[in-house]
Amino acid sequence: MKKTWANSGLDLHLDLPSSRVRAGLETALRDAVRDGRLYPGSRLPPSRVLAADLGIARNSVADAYGQLVAEGWLTARTGSGTWVTPHRPRPQPAPVAVPEEVAPPRYDLRPGVPDLGTFPRRAWLAAARASLSSAPDQVLGYPDPRGLPRLRTALAGYLARVRGVSVTGDRIIVCSGFAHGLALVCQVLRARSATAIGIEHYGHQAYRRIAEAHGLRLLALPVDGHGAMPDDLGPAAAVVLTPAHQFPLGVTLAPQRRRAIVEWATASAGLVIEDDYDGEFRYDRQPVGAMQALAPDHVVYAGTASKSLAPGLRLGWLAVPAPLLDEVIAVKEAAGAHANSLDQLTFAELLTSGGYDRQIRHARLAYRRRRDRLVAMVRRQAPQVEVTGIAAGLQALLSLPSGQSEDEIIAQAAARGLAVEGLASYHTGDPRHGPALVIGYGRPADHAFTTALARLGAVLAGRAAPAAAAAGRQRGRRESEGCPERGKGDPERDDGDPERDDGDPELGAEGVVPFLGRRPKADIDS
Ligand SMILES: Cc1ncc(COP(=O)(O)O)c(C=O)c1O
Repeated sequence: MKKTWANSGLDLHLDLPSSRVRAGLETALRDAVRDGRLYPGSRLPPSRVLAADLGIARNSVADAYGQLVAEGWLTARTGSGTWVTPHRPRPQPAPVAVPEEVAPPRYDLRPGVPDLGTFPRRAWLAAARASLSSAPDQVLGYPDPRGLPRLRTALAGYLARVRGVSVTGDRIIVCSGFAHGLALVCQVLRARSATAIGIEHYGHQAYRRIAEAHGLRLLALPVDGHGAMPDDLGPAAAVVLTPAHQFPLGVTLAPQRRRAIVEWATASAGLVIEDDYDGEFRYDRQPVGAMQALAPDHVVYAGTASKSLAPGLRLGWLAVPAPLLDEVIAVKEAAGAHANSLDQLTFAELLTSGGYDRQIRHARLAYRRRRDRLVAMVRRQAPQVEVTGIAAGLQALLSLPSGQSEDEIIAQAAARGLAVEGLASYHTGDPRHGPALVIGYGRPADHAFTTALARLGAVLAGRAAPAAAAAGRQRGRRESEGCPERGKGDPERDDGDPERDDGDPELGAEGVVPFLGRRPKADIDS
């Protein structure tokens, strides 16, 4: 780099490179204006003079001035030379609004999120490396709105094998989680002039809001021990169901109900949106197959990686009935909402290499152990509380004795640094179920689960919150050091056998506990 002192009427230190002189001069002048060495309103030497000072061609200077005038750094006035443009105060970029920090609860048993610490980072990285190393360049171009063919083929095989879904890769659409898939289908329904959609009386509010945001009126279907009751679908063009594991009540959709809903769909050209959010996680028996196989032309099957891997991936997939396919692709393409190709490649590799199956097996065992421990703790410490629903998924319903208030229990838990959620936040209209908690036993990190469970046990058993400040301080110190150890004086760390991995003998052979204390007459799954 040639350091040059330009002093023609204006002392100015400019660093110029020895090649690409004009571009170098532009950069040097921009830097000088930016750092204030060339202050606003100051006059620059005539191009001839600066060229002589710097020992470069006059045209290079004239061109650089011209470029900076065009960019607004300099102003040229005919007859009076070139000036540094007087500054208008530049608007400062507004800082991104950060929501007020809410301290996360120390222990969290709310449903919806898996144990993020179990994300298979190494397997994911290995799959990313393997798939990207061998992928052709074309994979990095604008992707097919349906998703990468490699992933769609892998998903079709996986879903057929594991969930009994009847589909080929050309009817799979990769989307950003169930929420996105639902939004796409709602958009298509609305474009077809649908006005109403059936939903389960108890369910996730976020998905209801998505349907409403697309102009669909909600028709709530009651849910009992056999799942959603399809008696009154009225003007609904579609119905959203969680057949394998009703969220949040935890029952499966009984075979006769499945048939009735499929009959409704066939007879009325209706659509079923099957939300199979945790279908791989069944602990007491083989998971019930997807309802989609009963009527592939009337059921949109929707899966997600949000429970099996992590919600932050925003990866989901739809198996779309042939008559709906082009419309779903069109709305997805119109929104420009393509899933990231690199993540798709990686996920395809994880699926085909067997890494995804391994992760599911590992997670299934871990969540099953947690569920067993939860059930055992409730039986022992709060027998008045009933764990209902099937042994599946990452959440369980704890029905409280009538008269107990969800809000009070939630407040008592909060006083112990434990976040829990009540069933009331999941219904539409009137509650039809007594007070209950929806416990997301999948969420805490492994090291926090034992204490979270013990605190829940203490709240359910009605034990007073530990008030002794000294004890609290001591506990706080231990916990802030990372993994609280068992049996070191924390009065809330009695949760039963932490290592048991076989079913709890109290649960019976299948580990199934009854829904609302009344086991449905018909076998709900078979
Ligand atoms: C009932 C239900 N469906 C679907 C999902 C997954 O949604 P997404 O794939 O948009 O993360 C969840 C996650 O909590 C859920 O509870």
